[in-house]
Amino acid sequence: STSPFVKIVEVGPRDGLQNEKAIIPTAVKATLIDRLAQEAKLSHVEATAFVSPKWVPQMADNSHVLERITRVPGVTYSVLTPNATGFQRAVAAGVGEVAIFGAASEAFSRKNINCSIDESLVRFEEVMRLAKEANVPVRGYVSCVLGCPYEGAVSPKKVAEVSEKLLAMGCHEISLGDTIGVGTPGSMAAMLDEVLCTVPASKVAVHCHDTYGQALANIVVALGKGIRAVDASVAGLGGCPYAAGASGNVATEDVVYMLHGMGYQTGVDLDALVSIGDWISREVGRENGSKVGKAVMAA
Ligand code: HMG
Ligand code: MG
Repeated sequence: STSPFVKIVEVGPRDGLQNEKAIIPTAVKATLIDRLAQEAKLSHVEATAFVSPKWVPQMADNSHVLERITRVPGVTYSVLTPNATGFQRAVAAGVGEVAIFGAASEAFSRKNINCSIDESLVRFEEVMRLAKEANVPVRGYVSCVLGCPYEGAVSPKKVAEVSEKLLAMGCHEISLGDTIGVGTPGSMAAMLDEVLCTVPASKVAVHCHDTYGQALANIVVALGKGIRAVDASVAGLGGCPYAAGASGNVATEDVVYMLHGMGYQTGVDLDALVSIGDWISREVGRENGSKVGKAVMAA
């Protein structure tokens, strides 16, 4: 694709906050979501997760968060739904899109969602059936696409196989997660070459955690292969509770700054995003993980 537009999926309220030990007030979460949509003009915000509160206590207030936000027309508010229980609760809370999340690594699948990859696909079929009935679009994540915290290297063929199954099930987009941020432009290119044999670039997003500082470089590789959807987290917040040591997603501020510099459009207001990143970093008591955010605030 030569389209100059890149879709940014802001995952900070979910991926960014899910790993915080201290419970963040529901009002702060709702304000974060509202500011991202209203002030930064982000069109896609992953708001929370309908997962087990025993597994991820920080997301236990999922439906309360959704009750408190002021929905902006045209903005998609999505949530994670690992199973039918999660899906039904999400729909009751009035979500516009859900995401199922699988993995290309068996060990990670078991640690994260307590079942094998094959078992997860059976559960996802059930979510998909309910979603079709309810007319709710479903996004599909694949975790550990460039490495697993338990198994190490992950084969690009396995990533392609799981991606293809999620697509065949009816997912409108496949988000490829470098869960622990170990990928490089080399491994990203090799993995995408395999996945793009079966999944068109127009249906692929990349989801890069920035643990090793490779995320922006890896995103450039994805852009070069025609991918026009990028997940990112304001202020680089986050990490996965089932991937020890994994740092947050690439900062949305850094992605937007880079894309605008490359001539892409995102629709995002970078100045507003920077001030939201500064605010939420102070709210959660963390150093701002965005280099652009820090530079702009210091200027
Ligand atoms: P399980 O224990 O095997 O589930 O967990 P179960 O079906 O046996 O149910 C056990 C209990 O959980 C029951 O309650 C269920 O009702 C309840 P009890 O009878 O004991 O009172 N339960 C639920 N409660 C609320 N919402 C639900 C739900 N489902 C069951 N949806 C399960 C299986 C999948 C639920 C669990 O493993 C889980 O919640 N895992 C989620 C872990 C998670 O959220 N990880 C982080 C997100 S993934 C990620 O960060 C990666 C990503 O960013 C991409 C990347 O970076 O690669 C997306
Ligand atoms: Mg993630």
